[in-house]
Amino acid sequence: MRVPEFDGYTIDAKYQVLHGQGFDADQAKAWQVVVDICDEFKSADKYLISIPMWNFGVPYKFKHYIDVIAQPGQTFSFDSATGYSGLVTGKPAAVIYARGGAYGGEGSGMDHQKPYVEQILGFFGFTEINPVVIEPTLAAPDDLAATMKAAIEKAQQIASTL
Ligand SMILES: Cc1cc2nc3c(=O)[nH]c(=O)nc-3n(C[C@H](O)[C@H](O)[C@H](O)COP(=O)(O)O)c2cc1C
Repeated sequence: MRVPEFDGYTIDAKYQVLHGQGFDADQAKAWQVVVDICDEFKSADKYLISIPMWNFGVPYKFKHYIDVIAQPGQTFSFDSATGYSGLVTGKPAAVIYARGGAYGGEGSGMDHQKPYVEQILGFFGFTEINPVVIEPTLAAPDDLAATMKAAIEKAQQIASTL
């Protein structure tokens, strides 16, 4: 499914939903495209995301997709009493993170790929997010072979239970 630009009537429609207001005809048409993509995303039983690090974060195509599916009433809800709740619940995800360099596990402050993916999936309601980190993919071939072997074993182990 083609991911539309997230602009114009689509942004207006998002704010109409957030403010509990109705759509005009252009907003309704734009919102239906978003809902169709959200429905496709939510129809999965389980999720496999394989994503490279680009400039310390995620590739812009992935961010574009997230910007289209992160929608009130679709992937999250808001209640003034209880705050935000994810609407994609009870389904597992596995995420393969490839990075040219090595980021030393959690908390280096340079890694805006894995923490971002985990935050947005958590915002959508995911609680089971199984990571496979492959780094540094730009290592010498011998070192990369060992890294790949370990990553493949971890991926196989996750796949056996996902
Ligand atoms: C546009 C671009 C930006 C990148 N930025 C980073 C980066 O900030 N840090 C890093 O460690 N690797 C970076 N890389 C290297 C990739 O993360 C690495 O090659 C990864 O293995 C690519 O995964 P793929 O082979 O699945 O596409 C970048 C690669 C590209 C093409």
